[in-house]
Amino acid sequence: MTLTLNAPLDMHLHLREGDMLRLVAPFSAAQFSGGVIMPNLQQPVDSLPRLRAYRDAVVQACGVESFTPYMTLFFRAYSREELLAVRDEIIGIKLYPAGITTRSEAGVSDFDRINDTVALLEELDIPLLVHGESHGFVMEREQEFLAVYQRLAETFPRLRMVMEHITTTESVAFLNQYQQVAATVTLHHLMITLDDVAGGLLQPDLFCKPIAKTPRDREALRQAVFSGHPRLMFGSDSAPHPRHAKECVGCAAGIFSAPVALPALAGLFAEAGCLDRLNAFVSDHARLFYRLPPGETKTILEPDPWKVPERYGSVRPFLAGQTLSWRLQG
Ligand code: NCD
Ligand code: ZN
Repeated sequence: MTLTLNAPLDMHLHLREGDMLRLVAPFSAAQFSGGVIMPNLQQPVDSLPRLRAYRDAVVQACGVESFTPYMTLFFRAYSREELLAVRDEIIGIKLYPAGITTRSEAGVSDFDRINDTVALLEELDIPLLVHGESHGFVMEREQEFLAVYQRLAETFPRLRMVMEHITTTESVAFLNQYQQVAATVTLHHLMITLDDVAGGLLQPDLFCKPIAKTPRDREALRQAVFSGHPRLMFGSDSAPHPRHAKECVGCAAGIFSAPVALPALAGLFAEAGCLDRLNAFVSDHARLFYRLPPGETKTILEPDPWKVPERYGSVRPFLAGQTLSWRLQG
């Protein structure tokens, strides 16, 4: 029996630039009808000209018209004029705390000084997408950041805000308090814990931000996702780095999961006995929150085992060498 998904979306995706963009974009385009494209390039995407140039490069690299790149701008103190000019061409603004993850140096270092810009986002109804980690102890960063989320949610009650790639029990609980807040969940945080990263030999392929947490946290995420929580959306956070940047002193953070995203998700949902809820997680919930029209494309998966390659070009994918039971048709 095949599984048909209606215009699935990847709501958090790093496609990079240049050769890396050309290598990785086709994997997303083959599975998804669109994706939210992250702006943390070498030089952040923080102006309309850069946004347009990047969108054109993404479209060209995808090689198909069926994939819609939903563009984001890197958070800074934008003026009302700048935001009005770009509003129709973006799905949101992505905020990184300065230095918290790959290429976030230009991010926010003082959260007491962002109110004016966030007020504009609320007024202009532009969603704010947030990498929610403090600079505290690595296992507690996401939990510590909840105070910032809370302040933003209380101060700007009409602001649509997305907690990106949540990983903890506390984040799931927080989400339930605010109707205007949604969250993305990655494939890898539904699958791995810190034990998989560092419990045996160190696995650079599984090193990412936020770091994978405890079995209890993973269980809370699974419960919420598999039960069909309407404000949880799939965002792979697929973030490729070449092997030389992963297998070295100072391993870069990021997991390249794009090639396995939907097949592996289908496996997880099937195992949990809720395959019928996968479509909502990868499409309906995001369309509702972001007010996107229903998509036209179909993605078909079939139960046909395949082994994930050890490498795609310079990059080792998530689940390399493992056998997945669902395959993308076509
Ligand atoms: C991302 C990257 O490499 O751009 N890395 C990661 O570990 N997830 C950035 C991010 O989303 O944190
Ligand atoms: Zn990311």
